[in-house]
Amino acid sequence: MRITINQIREMKQKGEKITMLTAYDYSTAKIVDEAGIPLILVGDSLGMVVLGYESTIPVTIEDMLHHTKAVVRGTKTAMVIGDMPFMTYHLSVEQALKNAARFIQEAGAQAIKLEGGITVAEKVRRLVECGIPVMGHIGLTPQSVLQFGGHRAQGKTPEAAIKILEDAKALEQAGAFSIVLETVPAPLATLITQKISIPTIGIGAGIGCDGQVQVINDILGSFTDFVPKHAKQYAKISDITRQAVTDYYNEVKAGSFPTDKQSLFIDEAVLAELK
Ligand code: KIV
Repeated sequence: MRITINQIREMKQKGEKITMLTAYDYSTAKIVDEAGIPLILVGDSLGMVVLGYESTIPVTIEDMLHHTKAVVRGTKTAMVIGDMPFMTYHLSVEQALKNAARFIQEAGAQAIKLEGGITVAEKVRRLVECGIPVMGHIGLTPQSVLQFGGHRAQGKTPEAAIKILEDAKALEQAGAFSIVLETVPAPLATLITQKISIPTIGIGAGIGCDGQVQVINDILGSFTDFVPKHAKQYAKISDITRQAVTDYYNEVKAGSFPTDKQSLFIDEAVLAELK
């Protein structure tokens, strides 16, 4: 049985911390699921860490559906959340419904995430009314990076902080089951967490949130372009990968790979007939 939105809400009520991690492919999703992570986000961050774009803006719905399907195939217990990419829910309620439905029906996700607060609240309400669980995302919303002038921390002035709190309340009222708070001051995230009834999932938002989310490539150390301030590297997979690839290269060049262990053999008699 997969984790449900009710169980995620109950975790906040019980004061149980919620862990969320991104995954973009079958093999990784399987490991994350087996580790017991309840929420797996197929984030549009895949645009940067998997596809090599400078931001999440070029990511298409087809990219997202392709990876979401792979993650769903790799998981049994986690709730898989598909991230709606740039301009796939902004145009109208109809557009948001049509594209969100693709994540659920075609890709097999159990929920979707979209960026924005008050401005997307009406869309969130309709999605929820139609039976699609929605996770909100406010603060540093990477799809607005051009408008923000870079990946900048949000909510630092009193006006900006009030706006983020109002966005959180609007999402709660619209029926979102939880909200990602990205790169906002920790005391603001704690206050929002206390003021709303649905779980907050922080990234660069301090310890006061109900849960935490990280991009898996950041915690594994497999994305080498930069390390975000909010990320902790629990491993350095890039070094291990580099070493393994170099060892393979050297062994092939030296003629020491493959050995008999990696090779197939046939009967000498069969071979003799071929000669
Ligand atoms: O795309 C993503 O991975 C995200 C998380 C960082 C929250 O939105």
